[in-house]
Amino acid sequence: MRKTVVITGGNSGIGLSMAHELARMGATVCLACRDQGKAAAARDEILQRTPGAQVELYKLDLSSFAAIHAFVQAFAQRHDRLDALINNAGAVPIRQQFTQDGFELQFGGNYLGPFLLTHLLLPLLQVAADEGGPGQGDARIVHLSSIAHNLGRIELDTAKGRKPYRVLPAYAQSKLGNLMFSHTLARKLPAGITSQAMHPGGVASPIYRELPRWQYALMRPFLIGPERPGKLAAELAIGAQRRGENGGYFSIQHPRIVSSTAKDLALQEALYKQSCVWADVEPLPEQVRTRQAVKPA
Ligand SMILES: NC(=O)c1ccc[n+]([C@@H]2O[C@H](COP(=O)([O-])OP(=O)(O)OC[C@H]3O[C@@H](n4cnc5c(N)ncnc54)[C@H](OP(=O)(O)O)[C@@H]3O)[C@@H](O)[C@H]2O)c1
Repeated sequence: MRKTVVITGGNSGIGLSMAHELARMGATVCLACRDQGKAAAARDEILQRTPGAQVELYKLDLSSFAAIHAFVQAFAQRHDRLDALINNAGAVPIRQQFTQDGFELQFGGNYLGPFLLTHLLLPLLQVAADEGGPGQGDARIVHLSSIAHNLGRIELDTAKGRKPYRVLPAYAQSKLGNLMFSHTLARKLPAGITSQAMHPGGVASPIYRELPRWQYALMRPFLIGPERPGKLAAELAIGAQRRGENGGYFSIQHPRIVSSTAKDLALQEALYKQSCVWADVEPLPEQVRTRQAVKPA
């Protein structure tokens, strides 16, 4: 059966690379993007490289709770199940900006938006998870975190703004949030749905477009192309060899180090509970399963 995969921000960089790979693997690739022009260009590129690929375009702006609800409604009108969600979209604004709901943009768009999106898509993931009997199926969530999570601290009082705003602590907190959410889901999700996170390496992509030119020029020699992380994300999402793996953190190019903060269960729980309040979602029940050891990548 053809797998259905949602990629947020699949029009560019690592997201586009995983879209190519998933199309090659025969999945229905759903690009959830804020810019429909860029999304259409990405679809054309995918179809050129993989003729006959199934590619669907959706409008999704993760910096608006209303837009996230609208996306899930539109998606559910076309699909009654979802095999994999890849929370890929992310941004690094140099100046402080805010989401439509009043959160600092990196916290709100990189972390809290995907948090809400994931909760809203769980019923469709559950359908895939229950195929063949309760919990016997295979549904997966993949989160694009970063090695930068190691620099992050969870400071809930910065969620609605930082004074002063510095780009790196804000980015690092959002990527730490992604990893902690992945770990929390891995403990709480019912059988049949798994949650994994990855650092894609330092990747040459438009995410660095707001950096001063000289700074990007210094970094550029150390950046890799988006192909390897794209392949890994696609494999984590639907690869048969990854079936059942849960709670892992993978890293390309750099050491696979999970910070002690990311492993702090009490902090994971505090962040989770507060995020449920902010995103206005029902918390998942208390721990239902343990994480399984996974191979490093
Ligand atoms: N590149 C790296 O070195 C690196 C390292 C570690 C982690 N990561 C993570 O990898 C992920 C992908 O990054 P990338 O390097 O591929 O960057 P990218 O090429 O800039 O792609 C990011 C994607 O996210 C989309 N996006 C940003 N904000 C959004 C929002 N509010 N709503 C919907 N879509 C939004 C962008 O849309 P537009 O095209 O419209 O801007 C774009 O499609 C990010 O989560 C990033 O944090 C990247």
